Amino acid sequence: MLEKRGGYIAGFLGCSLFSLLCTGMIFQGQTWMVDNSRVGEIATSRVENPGTSLEHPLESKQSMVASAWSQKRDHIDMSEVTTAEHMLIGVINPRTVYQVGDTLVVRIVARDAKGRQKTNGGDFLLAKLCTTAKSRVKACTAGQVTDRGNGVYIARFFLSWPGSLAISVRLGHSSESVEVLKRIRDNFLDRRVTKCSFVDEISGEEEWVHCTFSRNDSINPRDICDYSRSIPNATWYCQRPTRVKACQSITACNRDYPASLKLHETMVTASEAALFNSTLANLDVPNKVKITVKGNRIRDGVEGKTLPPCGPQLAESSSEGYWYNKTWHSLRCKPLRIHSSPLDYKCLRNKSITILGDSTGRQYFGYLEDLVQKITAQLPEGKREWERKHKSMKVDFVFHTFPRNHGTPALQVRYLKYVADEVDRIVGGPNMMVVLCFWAHYNAEPLETFRSRVWGIRYAIERLLNRYPDTKIVWRTGAMQGHVKLEHFLENSNWYTHQLIHEAKQILGDLNIFILDVWEMSLCEEPFYSLHPGPDIIKGHVEMMLSYLCSN
Ligand SMILES: *[C@@H]1O[C@H](CO)[C@@H](O)[C@H](O)[C@H]1NC(C)=O
Ligand SMILES: *[C@@H]1O[C@H](CO)[C@@H](O)[C@H](O)[C@H]1NC(C)=O
Ligand SMILES: *[C@@H]1O[C@H](CO)[C@@H](O)[C@H](O)[C@H]1NC(C)=O
Ligand SMILES: *[C@@H]1O[C@H](CO)[C@@H](O)[C@H](O)[C@H]1NC(C)=O
Ligand SMILES: *[C@@H]1O[C@H](CO)[C@@H](O)[C@H](O)[C@H]1NC(C)=O
Repeated sequence: MLEKRGGYIAGFLGCSLFSLLCTGMIFQGQTWMVDNSRVGEIATSRVENPGTSLEHPLESKQSMVASAWSQKRDHIDMSEVTTAEHMLIGVINPRTVYQVGDTLVVRIVARDAKGRQKTNGGDFLLAKLCTTAKSRVKACTAGQVTDRGNGVYIARFFLSWPGSLAISVRLGHSSESVEVLKRIRDNFLDRRVTKCSFVDEISGEEEWVHCTFSRNDSINPRDICDYSRSIPNATWYCQRPTRVKACQSITACNRDYPASLKLHETMVTASEAALFNSTLANLDVPNKVKITVKGNRIRDGVEGKTLPPCGPQLAESSSEGYWYNKTWHSLRCKPLRIHSSPLDYKCLRNKSITILGDSTGRQYFGYLEDLVQKITAQLPEGKREWERKHKSMKVDFVFHTFPRNHGTPALQVRYLKYVADEVDRIVGGPNMMVVLCFWAHYNAEPLETFRSRVWGIRYAIERLLNRYPDTKIVWRTGAMQGHVKLEHFLENSNWYTHQLIHEAKQILGDLNIFILDVWEMSLCEEPFYSLHPGPDIIKGHVEMMLSYLCSN
């Protein structure tokens, strides 16, 4: 339902605000054919050099597939797998009382089901330090974990507020599971199957085919519809339908659930699948570490230095921040607090925010629209209309195009936009902020698919900053999600998200943009992790964006 409404909002806004956005995708009519039943196989070929043409493409692809399969493990000795209940936790710097500003350092030793210490690293650990159940006010911060590579991990917790606190360390995935996740990411082209419908304009006949980001080089190019585009740095191919042959007849796309499940079955062995069983994944490491912290809670500055407004190239800090009484306190920059008086929002007048990306971006859109309405409602009656027309903040949202994890009703292709194209259309300036939020739908793709899109976006950002150097640009990173089923892990494991955050920072880190890393913020979420975070978290993100928008 949400997806449907969002599609409508995106389409509607795109049309009302930028008529250009309504012209739809540009189709380039190169074509070739893939048998419907073989898409699963396409998906098993390797990702390496997707563009190179091979002398004997079919043979080479097949041998690549074979080498991918050979890395599968049929028999995993479960007694050797890292097991949360056998891991050990000890404090490296024990004290009876810690002071605000200190760092609690903890040593975590990974052990297997038989209690033997692991000799390799690679376990995916998530650590946090929170107030105990008795506390009057809830507060929490994430720990920063370093992997020593030998089964020992060090977690550091920066202490920002006084109280009685306890740590929690979760084994997200054993190193054995991480190996499986990495193998399938690097060997399968898509871990989710997308199908698209083609509708004949005259007869109304409809035909569904599979579409992928990779091209089967052994098939005649005439039998493929190639929608790849160079500006967004994106590939996108559909097998040409047998009856509705025109590539521009593509109408709508969505996820092929049965085909995706079938594909998952081919990706992991039963033994590998067992690694993701709820008895092994996402389990808390038993620990009794409780500490007492004294001192004054850190508010607007750390170590005597006042926090700057949020924005590009912020100084590194020992922690991104902490939650206290449902409010996020960043330790890198000072958020703009959203209160209830319209007088607090003078700086938002005449500002525009364009949000490009996914459904959490749409949450910002909803939040900001409400905020504008609240501000307007508090103005004197006679001023409202004038303010609305002349001064109020304008917010716009456009959902990104494929990859998209989307069920029914299928997405209308004519409304789908590439983020890089949208960035190229923006009229920037000091009153314009562009918010890019872009990751969740990429978890089920090879790294290269994400990388190439982010590069495309990077170049578009550089062009925008050349045209309008004072435009404000925010890149919001990925966050934790809650998973239970094998299919969720194989497509969307938090480990994949964590990798994408690293990739995006590598590609965008030197630009004059605000990278809003919300991972640590999301790690404290209680009682479970939601892909669509609650209002406190959305507010926390928005307060940091508005700090940047209102800075000079
Ligand atoms: C590519 O297409 C050919 C012909 O349809 C098929 O035999 C082959 O298996 C496909 N290759 C892959 C990697 O799917
Ligand atoms: C998880 O493991 C338990 C114990 O080994 C087993 O009983 C259960 O069937 C497994 N669950 C799944 C979904 O494989
Ligand atoms: C926590 O927040 C609530 C509502 O925002 C406020 O009423 C309360 O006084 C706060 N408590 C503390 C200890 O700051
Ligand atoms: C409002 O913003 C537009 C576009 O950035 C700018 O041209 C105009 O001067 C601004 N008006 C005021 C009153 O700040
Ligand atoms: C496309 O992506 C690749 C990396 O995946 C990058 O090397 C290249 O510069 C990108 N090109 C454009 C035009 O964005």
